[in-house]
Amino acid sequence: MPTAYYKSEDRNFTLLKGDCVEQMKSFDFKFDMIFADPPYRLSNGGISIQSGKIVSVNKGEWDKSHGYEEDYRFDKEWISACRNKLKSNGTIWISGTFHNIFSVARCLTEAGFKILNCITWEKTNPPPNLSCKYFTFSTEYILWARKDRKVSHFFNYELMKSINGGKQMRDVWRLPSIARWEKTCGKHPTQKPLCVLACIIQASTLPGAWILDPFTGSSTTGIAANLLDRRFLGIDCCEDFLKLSKARKLEIAIPSKRKEIMDKLQAQSPLFNTSHRISEDESYYGIDLPF
Ligand SMILES: C[S@@+](CC[C@H](N)C(=O)[O-])C[C@H]1O[C@@H](n2cnc3c(N)ncnc32)[C@H](O)[C@@H]1O
Repeated sequence: MPTAYYKSEDRNFTLLKGDCVEQMKSFDFKFDMIFADPPYRLSNGGISIQSGKIVSVNKGEWDKSHGYEEDYRFDKEWISACRNKLKSNGTIWISGTFHNIFSVARCLTEAGFKILNCITWEKTNPPPNLSCKYFTFSTEYILWARKDRKVSHFFNYELMKSINGGKQMRDVWRLPSIARWEKTCGKHPTQKPLCVLACIIQASTLPGAWILDPFTGSSTTGIAANLLDRRFLGIDCCEDFLKLSKARKLEIAIPSKRKEIMDKLQAQSPLFNTSHRISEDESYYGIDLPF
């Protein structure tokens, strides 16, 4: 049985340190939903622009490509481990760019998942393209798949429709890139914006649900999950990112900070409008983590 690196007082936010495949194999528990933001393998020595400054695109050793075959083997291994951690009606969301998303789609299909959607996240404020030799990169893809081809999954259809002004929600989401106010506890090189995770979590779970993120980084998934009354386990091999995750959780435990963050999110997108929140019977999702 693993030992938690950190468990919050309310027991709704737990972190594990180590390789996600080894950690997922080390305990017995099933989750309602998984969000995975794996290495995109983009750290190839290129340059980009951040806050008006030229910066390297290198994120860290963990993001370097080891060649197509090895990257594919890694994707296959962690995606299979994730499948074992899902309830039979559970779903997984995996983000990526063209660099990794095709390998991910292949692994999902080979592992027995049924791909439900490929969401295109169109960033409303992408950085410019410096080389002027390509179109400006302004999108990421998020594959949504269910564990079992035959077992139906949960989709908060009506909620998504009401968030979208009464019209069916489409698979193109226009949402901003990460904002400065989301980095008050420190920086992660590939931190996801809370609004993207809020949409994912609300689309596929009810309050009380258990959510796993095997590449948790700064734990955007866990912060969005807790703000929306869901429970969370995050895994990362880098201790600095786990410290950052813990700091973010402690930040939202301060009522004034939590309110500030909720207000900013509500201003950014209608996702956090309390009139859209549902309060189903939480007993639907029982039990606690075994550690
Ligand atoms: C793309 S980032 C995730 C960022 C996160 N979504 C956020 O909002 O902060 C991927 C993370 O996976 C971690 N990582 C890479 N390989 C790993 C592995 N085999 N096991 C566990 N964590 C890993 C890295 O340390 C990095 O923090």
